[in-house]
Amino acid sequence: MLVTEQDRLRDDILAWGDAGGGSREALIPLLQRVQQKYGEISDFAMQVIADVLSIHPVEVQSVISFYHFLDLSARGKFIIRLCRTISCDIAGKDRLARQLENDLGISFGETTNDGMFTLEWANCIGMCDQGPAMLINEKVFTRVTPELVHNVLQACRASFGNIGLEGKEEL
Ligand code: FES
Repeated sequence: MLVTEQDRLRDDILAWGDAGGGSREALIPLLQRVQQKYGEISDFAMQVIADVLSIHPVEVQSVISFYHFLDLSARGKFIIRLCRTISCDIAGKDRLARQLENDLGISFGETTNDGMFTLEWANCIGMCDQGPAMLINEKVFTRVTPELVHNVLQACRASFGNIGLEGKEEL
């Protein structure tokens, strides 16, 4: 029997919902897991989540709208967030922004066609004395140079599927 993406998504939501006790408190963790694994929270996912938690789909939608880190649109495997706040601005974030846009062929707020990278602005991420700073997924990069941007993008492409960009790294 052919297992579709929707079948997999439904099975995951059922399993995660059960693990979370099937209660309303499981909603945000469930949304985060769906987004993390599938890159978006589709209408279908919202409906299944609502069914699993016995709540109305509108409630699921309103929670997604309230929390900016939850996103309905498909996003890349690597979400690059470049800090645009004043210290990083002075430290040269514009040059890095242009390079990121040129290298990826997208503007801020967009995702590459291959689903690999999403480019976003971030506000201060607390590394003001080590700017320019950027995040790739959960990993922090400081004193970012054009060369570093180039190398990191290469590393992301090369290790797609294997890289766990977690934690903080000083560069
Ligand atoms: S201003 Fe960029 S990290 Fe604070």
